Amino acid sequence: MRSVVVSAPGKLMLLGEHAVVYDRPCIVTAIDRRMKVRLSVIKDEVLEVESPKVGIVHYRKLMRDLGMETNGHKVKFVELGVKHFREKFPFGGGVRIETLSEFSCNFGFGSSATITVCVIKALAELFGKKLSNKEIFDLAYKTVLAVQGRGSGFDVASAVFGGTLYFWTGGEVIERLTFGHLPLVIGYTGIKADTVSLIKQVEELRKKDYGKVEGIFDEISVLVKKAKEAIVRSDWKQLGDLMNRDEELLEKLGVGGEKLSLLIKTSLQAGAFGAKLSGAGVGDCMVVLVPEEKKNDVCRAISQAGGEVVEVELGVEGVRIEVQSSERKVQRLYEKIKGDGSGAVKYSIY
Ligand code: MEV
Repeated sequence: MRSVVVSAPGKLMLLGEHAVVYDRPCIVTAIDRRMKVRLSVIKDEVLEVESPKVGIVHYRKLMRDLGMETNGHKVKFVELGVKHFREKFPFGGGVRIETLSEFSCNFGFGSSATITVCVIKALAELFGKKLSNKEIFDLAYKTVLAVQGRGSGFDVASAVFGGTLYFWTGGEVIERLTFGHLPLVIGYTGIKADTVSLIKQVEELRKKDYGKVEGIFDEISVLVKKAKEAIVRSDWKQLGDLMNRDEELLEKLGVGGEKLSLLIKTSLQAGAFGAKLSGAGVGDCMVVLVPEEKKNDVCRAISQAGGEVVEVELGVEGVRIEVQSSERKVQRLYEKIKGDGSGAVKYSIY
């Protein structure tokens, strides 16, 4: 049986959320918590999915029925990813897909986008299609839009290209930023945000108060462009100020949250340059820019306020093939990947 293991990184939005859904830019960075997908070709004309961490076990569907009456949000990304790839590059037989994540899907690190990207990349590899990163992005973004209805595609781009990206809606601009170490601390609220409903909520607000919301988006757009320059210059004081203003604007859009505000306030009091929510809002994570000498104080403040500090490396590599070989070799690799029960998966493969 031919198999391949592919991995892609999770993401953190730095600035520009919500506005980026409406033809504006954002800045996103790829983090060293990866999603892994093992994809095997099977004889039967079926799709099999095993993704126990997101509650998908023994999922089976005829290839010809892909996309029809699919229950369960997460499996839709896998199913439509396969469907879209097969429409573009028809193949016989079926596929078995197993996923393993180094992060809980509660963190807002972009598990849906990363699974989709891994599936497309793995299919391209197994069926010998030389797809560029932009082609992988386009197919994966089409899939995410088909499931979610709306979304900028920034999470897809981050999973595909990695690094830290200046990204414009739909991948109109995807520019890699080069700079030194970004002194960022991540705080997790413990609250799961529902991205799709928060996008809808902002959409409703925009319908009701178009001028106000467009004005906010315009201001976010200006500050994201300034932030891009500040990052490249490593001007953390200015970047911190821009993050604080972005947070104020996001709160005006109604996507702030009590726990987020508490963690942001305590981080600033502990000496951070700037702090803001990251992602759709209400919950998930917040990002804090800190002077190196204040890092410990900020981390302590976040923990004391009931947040969880998440240590991540930023700007890591995008989607990649982990191993492609005989089933036995892939199996051995997979057996080395062990869960430690904390939601993270620790592994030492190479
Ligand atoms: C969600 O993580 C970020 C949003 O801007 C949605 C998107 O860009 O797709 C709210």
